Amino acid sequence: MTPVGTDPLLEWRDEFPTLAHTLHFISHSLGAMPRGVDAALAEYTRLWRERGIRAWEERWFGLPTEIGNVLASILDAAPGSVSMHANVTVAEAIALSAVPFAPGRNRLVCTAEDFPSVLYLYEGLERNGVEVVRVPARNGRAVREEDVMAAIDERTAVVAISHVLFRTAQVVDLEPIVARARAAGALTLIDAYQSVGVYPFSVRRLGVDMLVGGSVKWLCGGPGAGYLYVRPETHARLRPALTGWMAHEAPFDFDSGPMRPDPGPRRFWTGTPAIPAFMAARPGYEIVARIGVEAIRAKSLRQTGRMIELADASGLTVVSPREDERRGGTVVLEVPAADRVCAELLAGDVLLDFRPGVGLRLAPHYYTRDDEVDEVMGRVRDAVHRHAR
Ligand SMILES: Cc1ncc(COP(=O)(O)O)c(C=O)c1O
Repeated sequence: MTPVGTDPLLEWRDEFPTLAHTLHFISHSLGAMPRGVDAALAEYTRLWRERGIRAWEERWFGLPTEIGNVLASILDAAPGSVSMHANVTVAEAIALSAVPFAPGRNRLVCTAEDFPSVLYLYEGLERNGVEVVRVPARNGRAVREEDVMAAIDERTAVVAISHVLFRTAQVVDLEPIVARARAAGALTLIDAYQSVGVYPFSVRRLGVDMLVGGSVKWLCGGPGAGYLYVRPETHARLRPALTGWMAHEAPFDFDSGPMRPDPGPRRFWTGTPAIPAFMAARPGYEIVARIGVEAIRAKSLRQTGRMIELADASGLTVVSPREDERRGGTVVLEVPAADRVCAELLAGDVLLDFRPGVGLRLAPHYYTRDDEVDEVMGRVRDAVHRHAR
């Protein structure tokens, strides 16, 4: 077993009761539940039960901004620049509804490897006259930065792409793409769901206009909470069509219009915020903010590197990138009968998943011990060999 002294991140392990009885290698899909969530949800019901309608003024109304600010610290964003939503798809739809598509500048540039949910949103835009340029992947589902850059020109209204690809965990180098988009006068909208919490990210340094992410995966925040960052310099130019009364500058005037959007970040809100989900999300966010993502990344690279070594030694094919700078937090293994191997391991105590066309996805996180890495890779090897017979 890894002594805590040699891996200070293991001090956080006790915060995750499930780790005592599972090999938790699925934080790219559902992070482990921090023990603080029980207390957070109990506090939610207590407030509702005891304070009733007064809970809004006393706690709930300020909550989305407070937890948005915890995310802002993780993203290196200005306080107040992150708004809370129900999931990434909704956050992205709000962002897209603010993009000024116009004749002559009506293109959205994305890639074929972006998450299906957002690709479906782009199909919807297409029906309304937006021209979607979907940059194809190369061999092995790799997205090349030069291909994305070549697709951007003065007809591009927005470049909407993933930072880390969900199938292969490839890291897309955003810097040249953001620079190219800015030079062409296009906005940028980044889906950073597979990077925030495991890959250090500075929106300030990168200068992205908008970024979306969620809580379920690396941030260990559970379902129901997604978020949208908007660069303060871009903010005033954007007016979402997908809006609501909570985005009005004076929501409690119940003014029937014309809508006057809040001058501040609340302009990106919609209707009543999802308070229980936001309360449940907070403990996970706070742990990541306290540890710092640089330390999480260093550990992730060490453990995913070890997993690749073990996969090689067992003759398993690795499809996630081998180069550290190209690899997100997940190791993807192309194996025969991945669905059945996955089901067998899940029926025991190994938490992992698989994606059609790529294979098994396994991810350590800041709470993973080194001996668990060795153990899980042995179990995967044995299960693969059993199913290959
Ligand atoms: C990169 C990426 N974007 C978006 C999503 C979907 O997000 P949501 O379900 O919050 O809309 C996922 C995974 O679920 C994802 O991996």
